[in-house]
Amino acid sequence: MTQDELKQAVGQAAVDYIAPKLHRDSIIGVGTGSTANCFIDALARLKDDFNGAVASSDASAERLRKLGITVYDLNEVSELEVYVDGADESNAQLELIKGGGAALTREKIVTAVSKEFVCIADESKWVGVLGRFPLPVEVIPMARSYVARELVKLGGDPVYREGVLTDNGCVILDVHHLEIMEPKKLEAEINQIAGVVTNGLFAQRGADVLLLGGKDGVKTIYPKY
Ligand code: A5P
Repeated sequence: MTQDELKQAVGQAAVDYIAPKLHRDSIIGVGTGSTANCFIDALARLKDDFNGAVASSDASAERLRKLGITVYDLNEVSELEVYVDGADESNAQLELIKGGGAALTREKIVTAVSKEFVCIADESKWVGVLGRFPLPVEVIPMARSYVARELVKLGGDPVYREGVLTDNGCVILDVHHLEIMEPKKLEAEINQIAGVVTNGLFAQRGADVLLLGGKDGVKTIYPKY
């Protein structure tokens, strides 16, 4: 199977996974990226079985609306039944790196409001130690150079993602060459730097389940503690 076919398979698997949990009032969280897009497309067949969605990016909101799915502002909603999104890396604890698509802050907020976080990914995202994928950090523009110097002190090699402005009007630093042995600790440390909006480690609140697509099909993986 190609990587695109694996993404379609996990998108479909996520629809099958959430279908029994949904009722007519349910509002679901929907993520961002090419794997999340496969989920959105597969979600079309369930669209009369739930109330609507909150999206973690303007792009996903637009894709949902095109399918006729109602998109809510998160401030109108107190709880989301489930959040489905991709990841750039996952370890066996289902601690993640996210933000390759620059939507990390909204993704983290939507995750926080969701009862369950279902991560969907192809097997290229499965790693022993997080950090091979450069860690995205969303930064207030005026703090960019200061935050970059602080990230160097933490052992990273930050690179400004040229030409990218997030949906929140901020910039992204991608931090290379990190070997993240303590994801929860590093997540907290980076978030303490003045000017950081958030970083792409989803460790304090990781995924509750991972649907991982590989050549032998889609595996359902729970966090290993
Ligand atoms: C978006 O900001 C990200 O967190 C995505 O979830 C992540 O980059 C995975 O994207 P793909 O599904 O496109 O690989």
